[in-house]
Amino acid sequence: PSNSQHMEDSCGIRRANCRAKGGAPGFKVAILGAAGGIGQPLAMLMKINPLVSVLHLYDVVNSPGVTADISHMDTGAVVRGFLGQAQLESALTGMDLVIIPAGVPRKPGMTRDDLFNINAGIVKTLCEGIAKSCPRAVVNLISNPVNSTVPIAAEVFKKAGTYDPKRLLGVTMLDVVRANTFVAEVLGLDPRDVDVPVVGGHAGVTILPLLSQVKPPSSFTQEEVEYLTNRIQNGGTEVVEAKAGAGSATLSMAYAAVKFADACLRGLRGDAGVVECAFVSSQVTELPFFASKVRLGRNGAEEVFQLGPLNEYERVGLEKAKKELSASIQKGVSFIRK
Ligand code: NAI
Repeated sequence: PSNSQHMEDSCGIRRANCRAKGGAPGFKVAILGAAGGIGQPLAMLMKINPLVSVLHLYDVVNSPGVTADISHMDTGAVVRGFLGQAQLESALTGMDLVIIPAGVPRKPGMTRDDLFNINAGIVKTLCEGIAKSCPRAVVNLISNPVNSTVPIAAEVFKKAGTYDPKRLLGVTMLDVVRANTFVAEVLGLDPRDVDVPVVGGHAGVTILPLLSQVKPPSSFTQEEVEYLTNRIQNGGTEVVEAKAGAGSATLSMAYAAVKFADACLRGLRGDAGVVECAFVSSQVTELPFFASKVRLGRNGAEEVFQLGPLNEYERVGLEKAKKELSASIQKGVSFIRK
C-alpha cells in the first residue's frame, strides 16, 4: 500500500524515499477515517506539519485517491495509504500518534448520542487494532459521541491489557476554538489573543465554557454569559443546520484536530508547558472521565489540572454537565462490558 517507495519505477527513474535524513525528529502519525469530511483536510494539514515524518492514511473507502493526491505536496512527511480492515495492522504498526475521525456525522435534528449505535462499533474495531499494533501510541479520538467513545476505547484497551490513561485523549479542541472565536467577537479582540478554558465533555450542556477564567481577564454581562455559553454549546448544531444534511463541522474540526495533534507532538518531543483542554481519565470530579486542561508531555496527558474557582453560574452548569456525562460514560462502558 506504499505510495513512496525506495524502488525504481518502470521507467528506471530513481524514487528515493524523501524522508529527511538526520534532520529534526519526526513522528509517525496515522489518521483513521482519512477519506472523510474531517479526514481529508486533516490529512492535508498534517502533511504540512514539520513534526510529522510519516503519515499513514487509513479508511474503508477512497483512501488510495486521497493518498495519491496528498503525497504530491512538497513537504517533508512521507504519505502512505491503507484501504480496508485487512490493512489496518500495517497502517498502525510503529505509529506514535493515532488520530481517529472515523464514523458517521450528525444530520439536522440529531444529537451526538444518536450516532452511538454506528460509531461505537467502529471505534471498538479501530481500538482493537491499536491495542494489537501500536499499544504505546497516543490516541486522539474525534469520533462522536466523544463522551461515550472515549470510555469505549478505554474498555477495549483494558481488555487487551494495554490501557494507559495518559495516552487516550478525547478531542474537545473545537469547543475551545469556537469559544475563543465567539468570545473574541464579543470583546472586540483578535481571537489569537483569547484563551477560554472549556471543560466537562463534548455534547450540549456537557460543554462548559469557563468565562470567569478567560484570558485576558474580562468581565461579561449576564446577557453576554448566557449568549456565549449557549452559542459555544450549540456551535456544532449551528454548522449541522447550515450544512442542511451534508454533514457536520469538518474544516474547523480539521483545524482544531491539527492544533491539538501538534500540541501532543510537541509534548512527545519534550517541550515544556504544553497545555490544552481534552476529555481524559480524570480525578477532577467524581466522574471517571472529564475534560479539563491537561499538560501534554512525553507520555501523553501527564498532568490533569483542576477546574479552578467557578462562579455560581458555572457551578450550576457543572452539575447539569455531570449528570448527562455520567450517563454517556456509563453507556460507553456497558457497550464493551455487556
Ligand atoms: P464523514 O462521514 O465525512 O467521514 C467519516 C469517514 O470515516 C468516512 O470516510 C468513512 O469511510 C470512514 N469510516 C467509516 N467506518 C470506518 C472504519 N470502520 N474504519 C475507518 N474509517 C471508517 O464524517 P466526518 O464529518 O468526517 O465526521 C467524522 C466523525 O467526527 C463523526 O463521528 C462526527 O460526529 C465527529 N466529529 C467530532 C467533532 C469533535 O469535536 N470531536 C466535531 C465534528 C465531528
